[in-house]
Amino acid sequence: PYDAGPFVPAGGDLRALREAAAGCRGCPLHRAAGQTVFGSGDASARVVLLGEQPGDQEDRQGRPFVGPAGGVLMRAVDEAGIDPALTYVTNAVKHFKFEPSPRGKRRIHKAPNLREISACKPWLAAELRLVGPEVVVTLGATAGKALFGSSFRVAEKRGAALPMPPVDGQESPGTALVATIHPSAVLRADDAGRAAAYAGLVSDLKVAARLLT
Ligand code: URA
Repeated sequence: PYDAGPFVPAGGDLRALREAAAGCRGCPLHRAAGQTVFGSGDASARVVLLGEQPGDQEDRQGRPFVGPAGGVLMRAVDEAGIDPALTYVTNAVKHFKFEPSPRGKRRIHKAPNLREISACKPWLAAELRLVGPEVVVTLGATAGKALFGSSFRVAEKRGAALPMPPVDGQESPGTALVATIHPSAVLRADDAGRAAAYAGLVSDLKVAARLLT
């Protein structure tokens, strides 16, 4: 089965994890992707922002949320009253999954499947153990599914403080979870819906901000 577990070092800090993750072969996504995009940010962040997987820009630059969705996300985080510099940003899946566009010029994002999400979970569990945030914010359906399973629906769960489920059997006492939409949904929305989608994202992030002690 796909499993990143054997690649995760037992001890060590986030830097050691990042170095080990660069060589992860726990699922086939490493073959086509440019590089592992590990989490980054404040190692003692009180807020962890969990996305889906790196996009094209992230795959090129090796850092999460540095593309257009990241721009929307960081603006919304700031507007919600959370200092973006005091967050730790990561993804449920650490390699870019894509298919070539019809003429092969662009790389089109493909959502990771449950096997890939589950294979990558040992990295997320290790990140959460080391960072120990007060709040985890899941962005979109994939991040939610990574923590709640395949029945997760953003519309049902968003904008409320939820108990943090165990990740790969690892409990996170003292951590709450807030689910919201993915910032790329704001970019995908039509002109009529974009402002409302963005306001919804900010409003959910404010719920996370209020949970901080
Ligand atoms: N979308 C994500 O979910 N994560 C990123 O890092 C970039 C875009």
